[in-house]
Amino acid sequence: MSRVLKDKKIVIGITGGIAAYKAAELVSSLVKQGALVKTIMTKNAMEFISPLTFETLSGNPVYYDMFSRAGSWEIDHISLAKWADVLAVVPATANIIGKVCHGIADDLLSTTIMATQAQVIFAPAMNTNMYNNPIVQGNIEALKKKGYFFISPAEGRLACGDVGEGKLAGLDDILQAISGYFSRKQDLKGIRVLVTAGPTREYLDPVRFISNPSTGKMGFAIAAACAGRGADVDLVAGPVNLSPPINVNMHSVETARDMYDKVMELYPACDIVFKTAAVGDYRPETYHDQKIKKGSSQLVLTLVKNPDILQELGKRKKEQILVGFAAETQNVAEYAREKMQQKNLDFILANDITESGAGFMNDTNKGVLITHEGEIVEIPLLDKNEFAHRMIDEVLKRSPRLAAKTN
Ligand SMILES: Cc1cc2nc3c(=O)[nH]c(=O)nc-3n(C[C@H](O)[C@H](O)[C@H](O)COP(=O)(O)O)c2cc1C
Repeated sequence: MSRVLKDKKIVIGITGGIAAYKAAELVSSLVKQGALVKTIMTKNAMEFISPLTFETLSGNPVYYDMFSRAGSWEIDHISLAKWADVLAVVPATANIIGKVCHGIADDLLSTTIMATQAQVIFAPAMNTNMYNNPIVQGNIEALKKKGYFFISPAEGRLACGDVGEGKLAGLDDILQAISGYFSRKQDLKGIRVLVTAGPTREYLDPVRFISNPSTGKMGFAIAAACAGRGADVDLVAGPVNLSPPINVNMHSVETARDMYDKVMELYPACDIVFKTAAVGDYRPETYHDQKIKKGSSQLVLTLVKNPDILQELGKRKKEQILVGFAAETQNVAEYAREKMQQKNLDFILANDITESGAGFMNDTNKGVLITHEGEIVEIPLLDKNEFAHRMIDEVLKRSPRLAAKTN
């Protein structure tokens, strides 16, 4: 049982989408983890699943009628709004998102959302075309700016037979977002974060490339941690085998030059950059349009230098905070300090990738965070997700300008 959810008061709003049945499993999991759960159903949700299911699973009556006078003299939408620590709408229809965005309070759920000061979380689920409709997207963006939290839907085969974005996020992602709210402060709200991750591929011909074994796990963990703490996150990643973290703007690239272009485009608007990507320093001088045929016993490759993304970020730096990463095999702190000076960084996370549990291809990491002033902060061997949070804590503590922006 997760201690994080114990005795937390959670209202689950269920709206009229085909994924309404999945809310039953969510309520069951929350109750098993010790949360106190009350549910509000829209009238349309009751076309999809019976209130009896939620009553039984939550151990509480289901609220749905604005004008019900059964049981008590309390006004339900006000008492539920005050009772909730978190109100999560799962699944959230295009309709409820639109109504809340435009201040419409015409049933118990929308009125409670309007009246609550608790964090409201929406997990949208709908047909891909509905989800991508600029009106729906505009409503989501507007609500995000007002502090409403969204759990992005997954891609997949939808109940209507279409394939695309719009499938309700997985139960684990929803549980993580709800517990994340209780376990972490929203101390990066209002901050725009840019994270780079993974390897790049430098092609010789259409089927061969030079790359490295970076999995992208560290960068993805940082992006997820920042998003969980309320930041707006852009993640620019080379080819990796990871699903994009929830609530992160994902930009997939292949070569170092693609990554350079995307990063330079996003850089001016961001407040902090975590540059974890293992970018290829060199690329083949000549790219062959056709597959290179096996020929003589030797093939000599000439490589040319790729643009240095970090160096360029350092040159163009205005207010941004730049956090670089140095994966070294020897003289770790010394090389890291040199890199920090050369590239005008504010922090560098250095690790010795020959040590067990650190760097590439591990689920854990350990290293030292070196500040521009020369302070050395050791971060012990931790799971990459915890490592990411610890590093963010240390950077935030030493970045008064960022902290001021979030207050
Ligand atoms: C079979 C069926 C499935 C539906 N699935 C969804 C859905 O997944 N997402 C959505 O936004 N609307 C869906 N709708 C449309 C909503 O039910 C409709 O917009 C309704 O007004 C939503 O009301 P509510 O937000 O008050 O629950 C569906 C309708 C039907 C008939």
